[in-house]
Amino acid sequence: MMETLKQPKQDFIARTLSRLTGDSRKNLEKQLSEIDPEELDALIRDYVLKKPETRIPSDLTPAPFFRLKPENGRQAAYYRQAEQKGKELLSDGKVVLLVVAGGQGTRLGFDGPKGTYPITPVKGKTLFQYFAEEIARVSEKYGAVIPWYIMTSELNDTATRAFFKEHAFFGLPVKSVRFFTQGTMPAISYDGKLLLGSPDSLALSPNGHGGTLLALKKSGALAEMKSEGVEYISYFQVDNPLAPMADPLFLGLHCLEGSQMSSRMLPKTNPHEKLGNFCMSGGKLRIIEYSDMPDALTEKKNPDGSLAFLAGSPAIHVISRDFVEELTRDGRLNLPWHRADKKVPFISENGELVKPETPNAVKLESFIFDALPLARKTMILEGCRAEHFSPTKNPTGVDSVESCREMLSVRDARRLELAGIRVPRKSDGSPDCVVEISPRTVCDDEDAKQRLNPARHAAPQAGGKAYYE
Ligand code: UTP
Repeated sequence: MMETLKQPKQDFIARTLSRLTGDSRKNLEKQLSEIDPEELDALIRDYVLKKPETRIPSDLTPAPFFRLKPENGRQAAYYRQAEQKGKELLSDGKVVLLVVAGGQGTRLGFDGPKGTYPITPVKGKTLFQYFAEEIARVSEKYGAVIPWYIMTSELNDTATRAFFKEHAFFGLPVKSVRFFTQGTMPAISYDGKLLLGSPDSLALSPNGHGGTLLALKKSGALAEMKSEGVEYISYFQVDNPLAPMADPLFLGLHCLEGSQMSSRMLPKTNPHEKLGNFCMSGGKLRIIEYSDMPDALTEKKNPDGSLAFLAGSPAIHVISRDFVEELTRDGRLNLPWHRADKKVPFISENGELVKPETPNAVKLESFIFDALPLARKTMILEGCRAEHFSPTKNPTGVDSVESCREMLSVRDARRLELAGIRVPRKSDGSPDCVVEISPRTVCDDEDAKQRLNPARHAAPQAGGKAYYE
């Protein structure tokens, strides 16, 4: 820690610390003690004072994937076998669910953990409630209490736990809801200085969803999973209520393929869609961010006119527990850092809180998908955009609260029809109503057919809102 403070650049922090007393001093001291001075130096040199150049390998080829629908009879049989396997894994307690909820949700601009955002189109259930109800149904369906790991960050852990307590864990067994906390990284100003976010604290932000892997190890969650016989982690993001959290086919293929880390893919709707691109390089799977992909590759077409690099990432994975153990064995994990330029409020040398109008600092994050090339075996399964991916990043527009609510309603309207319940539709085919089905009752299409029925559930009215449970 003291090494960090000896750097002339960190002079302001050193002076601040020397003035502090009591708990304030302890707080700042603790934060500084978690920083490795040599690593900080290297980060400032390589990521802050210059913009890191992402080296794009020259041998990128599109990554192979399993189609959502089997392509031939032999594959259909394999999918049936995989689905059966996935169901067994769920029933046998081999799977846990993991939601990453440590982000700051800056684009959403919501004051509180993103999971506490009211999202559903009719009842306004929060994201956490929605997942909790789905987990209750999935557990019931497979006859096993499926543990739910929730990754928080130091910035939202207290608020997240309090929210679950206040809502009595939405009826889930308290022991099955397990919080663990990811690490933080200090924001660094463009001139290489650590920033103070408040008089006795560095400006810290969560270290990216790549922090999940080490946090699993450090928190003891990984050891707990092992002791309970868990083998697979189903990973999804808190802002995607459509995420297929317990998909037997995906889980089964992961297992039968001997994959260490598997991913869902979505066929991109246009070359420049803002999704990470699944690519192969040197025999390894990796995701190249849309902003880093050379145009020549992004726009490359197959002879039939389809996109060569078709597969985009919706950030849905299955990860083998023993893979995470392997990666974090010695208590470290060096995933690459990604630089983000941000407006970071800070305490100036004369003690005022400054809220910059333009980016002033670098935040560093690691990404979970950078573990893909470290795996000996990977697997990709196609997903369905309308059914699996409704990211809630912004209040309105693309990937927003609005688009998410609409997608939930459209998906549930389709499920009502599966159950034989008539849904009024507009001339363009979209539902002429807003509907919501409780995931406590229906967690998949099979449930819709079996658990909803026109004799008991009235059809939604044109222009109306209807809730089903
Ligand atoms: P995003 O990268 O979209 O970030 O996270 P965000 O925090 O939700 O939103 P912005 O960028 O500040 O507007 C994708 C998922 O990864 C989680 C988020 O909670 C979300 O589920 N995440 C992100 C973490 O758990 N930790 C992090 O450090 C970053």
